[in-house]
Amino acid sequence: MTLEEKIGQMNQISSYGNLEEMSRLIKKGEVGSILNEIDPVRVNALQRLAIEESRLGIPLLIARDVIHGFKTIFPIPLGQAASFNPQIAEDGARVAAIEATSVGVRWTFAPMIDISRDARWGRIAESCGEDTYLTSVMGAAMIKGFQGDSLNDPTSMLACAKHFVGYGAAEGGRDYNSTHITERELRNVYLPPFEAATKQGAATFMTSFNDNDGIPSSGNPFILKTVLRNEWGFKGFVVSDWASIKEMVNHGFCADDKDAAMKAVNAGVDMEMVSYTYMNNLKDLIKEGKVSEKAIDDAVRNILRIKFRMGLFDKPYINEKATSVMYTPENLAKAKEAAVQSAILLKNDKNTLPINASVRTIAVVGPMADAPYEQMGTWTFDGEKTKTQTPLQALKQFYGDKVKIIYEPALAFTRDKNTANIAKAVNAAANADLVLAFVGEEAILSGEAHSLADLHLKGAQTTLIEALAKAGKPLVTIVMAGRPLTIEKETQLSNSVLYSFHPGTMGGPAIADLLFGKSVPSGKTPVTFPKEVGQIPIYYNHNNTGRPASRHETLLDSIPVEAGQTSLGCTSFYLDAGFDPLFPFGYGLSYTTFQYSNLKISSKEFVPKDEITVTFDLKNTGNSEGTEVAQLYVRDKVGSVVRPVKELKRFTRVTLKPGETKNVSFKLPVEELAFWNIDMNRVVEPGEFTLWVGTNSQEGISVDFKVKD
Ligand code: IFM
Repeated sequence: MTLEEKIGQMNQISSYGNLEEMSRLIKKGEVGSILNEIDPVRVNALQRLAIEESRLGIPLLIARDVIHGFKTIFPIPLGQAASFNPQIAEDGARVAAIEATSVGVRWTFAPMIDISRDARWGRIAESCGEDTYLTSVMGAAMIKGFQGDSLNDPTSMLACAKHFVGYGAAEGGRDYNSTHITERELRNVYLPPFEAATKQGAATFMTSFNDNDGIPSSGNPFILKTVLRNEWGFKGFVVSDWASIKEMVNHGFCADDKDAAMKAVNAGVDMEMVSYTYMNNLKDLIKEGKVSEKAIDDAVRNILRIKFRMGLFDKPYINEKATSVMYTPENLAKAKEAAVQSAILLKNDKNTLPINASVRTIAVVGPMADAPYEQMGTWTFDGEKTKTQTPLQALKQFYGDKVKIIYEPALAFTRDKNTANIAKAVNAAANADLVLAFVGEEAILSGEAHSLADLHLKGAQTTLIEALAKAGKPLVTIVMAGRPLTIEKETQLSNSVLYSFHPGTMGGPAIADLLFGKSVPSGKTPVTFPKEVGQIPIYYNHNNTGRPASRHETLLDSIPVEAGQTSLGCTSFYLDAGFDPLFPFGYGLSYTTFQYSNLKISSKEFVPKDEITVTFDLKNTGNSEGTEVAQLYVRDKVGSVVRPVKELKRFTRVTLKPGETKNVSFKLPVEELAFWNIDMNRVVEPGEFTLWVGTNSQEGISVDFKVKD
């Protein structure tokens, strides 16, 4: 290969550019990958240029952001994470891969496995939430689904573990912002999902936009070489984010494009996405001895190795005449099941849900009841709203023979401030036995560069809920959103609250079945729901302060005027918002109830090479069948550095008939209690631990054990 041809493999261009220019570059062998081309005829035509008209005939790698579905859209990843079911994530990714590869897309930029603890950040929607273990498990399942059993299967779509690393900790939740994560925090919290992705065989990684502690990821050899290549032995290739190499100039980390190209390639970024700093500068940098030819050879090897493993050289073309694999009944059934398992029942006073047979008339209100585009959520370039089934459509189609439906949206969209039609919705409520209020946020309000400073329901949605509550009919609020919203008031005013996130193509039928009890809610919060935005950051697995919160309630109204410097307890909490979140991590109700008992562990003392067996009885104490996500948490009581108050270590979904008890068992290698200690070594430190099993991160039964050297 000539140097130009090598650098060409490291160049990814966007198909949104000029076709003539694109063809010229491909023929010269100066393009390794194209993103955003989804027309199969054009994909083949471009591929033909690369194979038949460039000197070496190296096939192109076609990429696209297929984040939670290609045509059949699954719930946003945050919703999928609420299922606590890796099979849901794997199935969703497999369906996406089958659909997308049929038009020639063999590389997706997913999964996004950034730990996200700030709901202001719009990209929390694309994440698996706040927890390291849950994100590791769900991310690995998505990689399995995208890539299938073998990269060289034509339906295998390369996964891309992104964004490496720390992007979710953007200061203030403002996208692209700086992060200040210490090495220990990085290793204990942010890196493990990426290590799990490497173990799962993720073919590619993407660098993140943020600078951490002053070093932009695209120029950070510590994460790309020391950790990714040397410690984890990653054999795939690393792509930059969109222009993130060039943007190191804006960061003030590089003097110009040439400096940026040098720092990125020397740090270990193999392919550059859309900016041309590599194309324009690498040759000179090599001549000047600032970049070695070996660095280029390594990058090109990393890229070509994957192209070979994918079978791209043997089968570069796709069958343009193949029968469509989009929106098949199987794909839609999987998307529906994902939407069912992603929904979280947050409140259900007096068993308002499931809707019972005495309900004859239902008022369906709110801007999200019939918003097919919006319910697909962020990053859905290819999903079609005409194929999307809304709750209103599904209620009419599947339950219209059982109940009369009066539809009054009241608001045209979620940010609508016009209250003129609220009276019509209240009137509908007055004439109904039950009200279903569909609120939330439109797709555009979450996702990349869509951060929010205020997480209350937008527009006149709260006014609508207040007015409906006054109508005196049972009020069920369904929230369709890309993030946890601060819905304390709306929760108080509603009898039941079902949080479906943006549920995708089949959200309507899934929600309708949940409301009528054909399906039973089983989702659990994958992030802590704050009461107020000012509580952020709020996450369950925080360290303890020297003055842990003892005040769970607010205090503001009880403080006398001129109170002086009276002690208010001297603990870590907010005077005006207390200590507790609205809903803790791992929280979610069912139509039935569960009881945990008889917790046993295999010993009271272990050594690091042991495996802990944990067993307990889980009983369905209610009147209907249901599925519980049983969760196992551990606390390392004393460490050489402060350890989190609790950490999720295992979870499982258990389905039980009324009255049924199952003995549930978890295996936990002691090795998984390791953390990066005071000497920055990953070790299990001997000492005392508490282990809980329970229904969420705040409730459970516990047992203590010891680990010895
Ligand atoms: O994959 C994305 C990334 O997550 C954000 N910037 C653009 C990329 C390609 O579209």
